[in-house]
Amino acid sequence: MTVETSAFRWSDRYSVNIAELDRQHQGFLAIVHELNQALATGEGAAVTHSILQRLVEYAHTHFPAEEALMTEHKFPTLLTHCAEHDRFTRLVAKFLEDYYAGKAGVPVSLMLFLQTWLKEHILVSDKAYRSFLNARGVY
Ligand SMILES: [Fe+2]
Ligand SMILES: [Fe+2]
Repeated sequence: MTVETSAFRWSDRYSVNIAELDRQHQGFLAIVHELNQALATGEGAAVTHSILQRLVEYAHTHFPAEEALMTEHKFPTLLTHCAEHDRFTRLVAKFLEDYYAGKAGVPVSLMLFLQTWLKEHILVSDKAYRSFLNARGVY
């Protein structure tokens, strides 16, 4: 079986041109890539708990880092951005709850959620602060 290995690899199109945040986004992509690979080989259920724990950790380190920079430089859509982060954190907690409750389909639903997050948050909302923060000397 051939498994798609490049779908969730880091590329320049994800870059916000701020070293620490790019590193954290690379970590996020690595998590999504791992879940995708596990699903492709029928191992989704086996990695779900560890994936969810790493997503909790990601949210605890990455969101405050972004929010601190946006707050410091008075990024205009800070509140909307924070609301998206809060929603991510709540949904990951809900996925963990469903996982502990033994609910079916958690790995696949989680994968769809992460793909959407990548497309709608990292590639849109996060990219929106790139030039604003770069213009204020944040790299
Ligand atoms: Fe963000
Ligand atoms: Fe981000």
